Amino acid sequence: MKRVLRTSVVVILAIIVLAGCSPPPEERVTASLPATAVEEIPLPSPTLKGETSLEETLALRRSVRSFTTEALTMTEIGQLLWAAQGITREWGGRTAPSAGALYPLEMYVATADGLYHYVPRGHKLLVESTADLRPALWSAGLKQDAIRQAPAVFVIAAVYARTEAKYGARAERYVHLEAGHAAQNLLLQAVALELGGVPIGAFYDDQVQAALSLPPDHTPLYLIPIGHPQE
Ligand SMILES: Cc1cc2nc3c(=O)[nH]c(=O)nc-3n(C[C@H](O)[C@H](O)[C@H](O)COP(=O)(O)O)c2cc1C
Repeated sequence: MKRVLRTSVVVILAIIVLAGCSPPPEERVTASLPATAVEEIPLPSPTLKGETSLEETLALRRSVRSFTTEALTMTEIGQLLWAAQGITREWGGRTAPSAGALYPLEMYVATADGLYHYVPRGHKLLVESTADLRPALWSAGLKQDAIRQAPAVFVIAAVYARTEAKYGARAERYVHLEAGHAAQNLLLQAVALELGGVPIGAFYDDQVQAALSLPPDHTPLYLIPIGHPQE
């Protein structure tokens, strides 16, 4: 009988100690998140019907370098990113063609509120920074005023290795051609939204990379300031 009692006391003590070790429910939830969890912003679904025809959009497009101070809405930012790299097929096909469907491009957008990284699958943004990085981009972009003035600066970067894995030395050409496809989609979508923008290729790569703290394999190819045109 004494032995049974002793065993019961040991079991009860073990249960109390183990219960004390397990974290309260809210701590358990936090502990299961990755240490580097970043905030995600879902984007509104893109519109597939516009007021301006493709032909009118093509005829209207002109590089715009002066903008009003009006910010872009998240709906406009989402629509522009979708036009550049949005997913349009279940298997992953996008708005812009890609050699071997390897999709080497990564899109970022810098606004007064921060830096966002576009995730095509799920059509959402990752918040990379909550600082206004446009002044640093302006400096990296030879102090071209369009970069400082625009409410949103879109950045097309590329991960060459994705395309090199299949195409070797030919990859550099393919990646640059793809950046052109994505940029033109973005610029035409801007026109269709009554916005304007300019594709900027003159900047210091290393300074853009440092300003945005881009991963080392995300090479910036284009800065595209977009906003409401100043008449
Ligand atoms: C590859 C490339 C790089 C460019 N880089 C710049 C640039 O650094 N700054 C700028 O103001 N415009 C830049 N532009 C825009 C051109 O100046 C512009 O397209 C040209 O003047 C024709 O005008 P449009 O775009 O209105 O047709 C660039 C265009 C291309 C295609």
